[in-house]
Amino acid sequence: MVGSVEEEVQRRQAAHLREWHRHMMRRFAPEARSVLEVGCGSGCVMENVSDVCSISGIDLDPRQVASAKEKGLDVIQGNALEMDAQDDSYDAVVCSFYLMWSRYMEKALREMIRVSRGPVIVMSEPVWSMSCHDPSEVWDLIEAQVLSIRHRGGDPDAGLTMIRFLREMGAEFLFGTVPLEMRLHDMEDNIAFEYEYSISKGFDLEPVPNATLLVPFIWACINGIKGV
Ligand SMILES: C[S@@+](CC[C@H](N)C(=O)[O-])C[C@H]1O[C@@H](n2cnc3c(N)ncnc32)[C@H](O)[C@@H]1O
Repeated sequence: MVGSVEEEVQRRQAAHLREWHRHMMRRFAPEARSVLEVGCGSGCVMENVSDVCSISGIDLDPRQVASAKEKGLDVIQGNALEMDAQDDSYDAVVCSFYLMWSRYMEKALREMIRVSRGPVIVMSEPVWSMSCHDPSEVWDLIEAQVLSIRHRGGDPDAGLTMIRFLREMGAEFLFGTVPLEMRLHDMEDNIAFEYEYSISKGFDLEPVPNATLLVPFIWACINGIKGV
């Protein structure tokens, strides 16, 4: 199923982005009572913010939904491109690493805007092909990730694609890059994981020692479409 990323990957990403998720909720939806996460997967992002808002989720993949439910989260199985929810049902709608797996990004954005009476908060979408890296041999890993995401039907540069769609749609939005802070050890641990992951997917890679790799993520807070 497109975008059904292993729970271990979701857990790692959500752990690094925990403070960011909490900041985004406080910054853009401090009063929100009912929040929906679209493409919530196994619920790692929901767990990060469950004490700052009341959040429910929707995901297409029944295995992800079952895993989120096991954590006691309020999640339903459904297609976020055609939700049953009425217009303006939620105080805010959020998503994280969802648009990169949506084959119909404009539709995905419009549907989130439709069901939210407040903002649509896009926590993070990657721009893999513009990753900062050193030494240059790390490019092989980046290339493997880009190919692997494309091969699985995703968009490795979804952060930029999203901005293009929002611009064309005439959306009102704020956006930027996600500020991340981590220890050197955490980055090295991530890189080791990325190598292991890519090798497990069949890429012939030799891990580069003492490597630096930073993948830019783009966020957005969408406040509707001009004139709609
Ligand atoms: C990479 S996971 C992200 C999970 C979670 N948001 C996070 O950041 O940890 C992407 C999720 O989007 C879901 N997804 C993709 N297309 C979908 C759709 N049309 N409707 C609902 N969920 C969808 C996938 O099943 C997957 O669980």
